[in-house]
Amino acid sequence: MNNIYRKTYAEINLKNLYDNYKNIKALLNNKTIIPVVKANAYGHGVMEVVQYLIDKDINYFAVSLLEEALELRQEFKDIDILIMGVIDKEQFEIVSRNKFTITISNFDQLEGIENFKEPLIIHMKVDTGMNRLGFKSNDDISKAFEILNNNKALNLQGIYTHFATADGNKELYDIQLNRFSTILEFLNYKFEMIHASNSSSTIKYESEIGYTTHTRLGISLYGLTLDKETKFLKNTFSLISHISEIKHLNPGDKVGYGATYTAKKKEIIGILPLGYADGFIRLNQGGDVEINNRRYPIIGRICMDQMFIKIDETITKDDNIIMFGGLVSIDEVADRLNTINYEIICQIKYRVPKIYTK
Ligand SMILES: Cc1ncc(COP(=O)(O)O)c(C=O)c1O
Repeated sequence: MNNIYRKTYAEINLKNLYDNYKNIKALLNNKTIIPVVKANAYGHGVMEVVQYLIDKDINYFAVSLLEEALELRQEFKDIDILIMGVIDKEQFEIVSRNKFTITISNFDQLEGIENFKEPLIIHMKVDTGMNRLGFKSNDDISKAFEILNNNKALNLQGIYTHFATADGNKELYDIQLNRFSTILEFLNYKFEMIHASNSSSTIKYESEIGYTTHTRLGISLYGLTLDKETKFLKNTFSLISHISEIKHLNPGDKVGYGATYTAKKKEIIGILPLGYADGFIRLNQGGDVEINNRRYPIIGRICMDQMFIKIDETITKDDNIIMFGGLVSIDEVADRLNTINYEIICQIKYRVPKIYTK
């Protein structure tokens, strides 16, 4: 643990991450998983995650932004990187120079690509019902395909779509999948890479699809999904803190900004060096933390850098205070905050250092 002076950190379990990869891979009949490592590998630290996976012979990754791809390229010269977000035509040269794979999803991009003379690896994106990125009508898809296929400087390597409801509404999932099959049929082109699934659809349905070659896996690598079918996934992210001061309260004593908590009797509280500036937001007030396999409540307002928990005389400054990732799961915190697990791990800030278990 280098340069960790404040005893608050995230414990990232890379071994569990790789176990998740292997266990999902086993469901896939030889299809290739593209780990999605955008947003700093969903808060896990992208450089460490990618290095670890490269050491396991994984060499293809997906990010959202050109900036994210460039950060990876500085360190990793030989990996393939698919950029899933929109890249403007002014940036095509940077993409080409760095040998990134670009997503082409709109006609502004096609304007820039028609006469582009440098090599560019392209995945064409089709919108099958989510109404986010991608060419949608048959007409638009055909036109885009013609332009991409006619420019011989380009390598039209792949085609893909994205599901809006793989974790829920099966009806819309089926409509999107059928639409994707139809598009592939009428284009009648031998794409080297065809991919559609994210975590939920990979785990539930990918083995039923014959023609896809890859899946784009994000949240389930990190031990989470929005489905109940994923009990085999292992936790990869635990947020840990330690008590910096212990305080004894008398009946009637108030705690924290706004004095929102009043001791009813003699009580003991612990002050933690963790707050909303770390991404542990104020709405967590009233939730639980884990100490020595037991739950203890978060009381008082969460401050920018500190917060309060109610403890008992058995608790010491040496005990790990597990904010989430154990007895208190990331899903529980997501429920507490009325959001999804993705947001909980992504919102932990840069100033929380990470330690890695390999
Ligand atoms: C286009 C695309 N593919 C794949 C993924 C990975 O999704 P998940 O994290 O649900 O596996 C994302 C994430 O949002 C995405 O935007």
